[in-house]
Amino acid sequence: MAKHILLIIGGGIAAFKSLDLIRRLRERGHQVTPVLTRAGAEFVTPLSVSGLAAAKVYQDLFDLTDEAEMGHIELSRAADLVVVAPATADLMAKMAGGHANDLASTLLMATDKRVLIAPSMNVRMWEHAATRRNLATLQGDGILVVGPNEGDMACGEYGPGRMAEPMEIVAAIEAALTDGPLKGKHVLVTSGPTHEPIDPVRYIANRSSGAQGTAIARALLGLGAQVTFVTGPADVPPPHGVTVVPVQTAAQMQAAVRDALPADAAVFAAAVADWHVKGASDSKIKKDGKGLPKLTFAENPDILAQVSGLREGRPKLVVGFAAETDDVIANATAKRKRKGCDWIVANDVSPATGIMGGSENDVTLITADGSEDWPRMGKDAVAARLAQRLADALG
Ligand code: CTP
Repeated sequence: MAKHILLIIGGGIAAFKSLDLIRRLRERGHQVTPVLTRAGAEFVTPLSVSGLAAAKVYQDLFDLTDEAEMGHIELSRAADLVVVAPATADLMAKMAGGHANDLASTLLMATDKRVLIAPSMNVRMWEHAATRRNLATLQGDGILVVGPNEGDMACGEYGPGRMAEPMEIVAAIEAALTDGPLKGKHVLVTSGPTHEPIDPVRYIANRSSGAQGTAIARALLGLGAQVTFVTGPADVPPPHGVTVVPVQTAAQMQAAVRDALPADAAVFAAAVADWHVKGASDSKIKKDGKGLPKLTFAENPDILAQVSGLREGRPKLVVGFAAETDDVIANATAKRKRKGCDWIVANDVSPATGIMGGSENDVTLITADGSEDWPRMGKDAVAARLAQRLADALG
């Protein structure tokens, strides 16, 4: 599967590894169009980049000859994948901020292709709050990330920040370009708990870690799906490469799900709170000596039931979860009917099972044809099996 990669080389000491990356990609039959930033050209020469890529190097946004031959918009879209290696702290900040003030940043804004970055920087810069923020923004935008690795750095320090090795980047590139059975399908996944505010500092939550929903999103992505991941405040970070929509409350989750449709399939793995506090206070509730506060609850929208009942634009396959502590199969079978979804993944979340917040799951898949017990396995394995079933069903 020879592919065309647009490779943006940023200005970092790891740029020398990008020369090797070009060689490795070409050995494997891929075509590389290199773009060298001004800072990148301080570390590697245009001649060596061009020689190894056997292609023209693009450097300047306002180059009239380049623009006449291939405009920057066209350049940004001609490749199958855009790769930034090394992705410096500055390039990441530009990407997160949506800057378009040189050729590299303009291409990254204009492209309609997936983007994979291989960050490379000093450990302090990698751990800096600004870089953390930018990384979260980029991941939320669906940017794929490979590395960085931990180890000795050119600057003499030790820690995470070393650019991934060329063959690791090649593997990430090929994974991003793999055509799976869900290629071209859009799948919506909800995950995590919701937080329902009592006042600005207090909320009602549940013990969901988001691990199962995250694993499902990752497995679907691995089969080539385009995944929108609507997540409450989870303990585990969202997977790379999905479009993340962070929410807090059930009402926000409902709005985010509505905005994410249409989808070919939807998996509702979130542990949505059933109630919110009616008239949550805008200011902190104080101990004012007048007795205990009284909380009144109101019902939250049932997002799964709503989507299952859509007359227009209903995903072809709607999958719900049923977290039960008693009569798991009977309750979950009834729940499938009540909510109108196609499948229910039922699990026993009694404390003794250690499933809620744990790494394993013990599920029963309930469909219109009956129930199917799966052996207890890791949440990743449950996710892989479910994703494969989903791919078979969407055909
Ligand atoms: N769900 C939802 N919106 C809600 C509540 C639940 O989308 N407001 C979804 C969950 O994501 C899950 C399924 O519905 O896929 C079942 O959730 P669960 O809490 O187990 O069921 P409930 O409807 O709350 O039923 P009960 O509390 O009676 O067990």
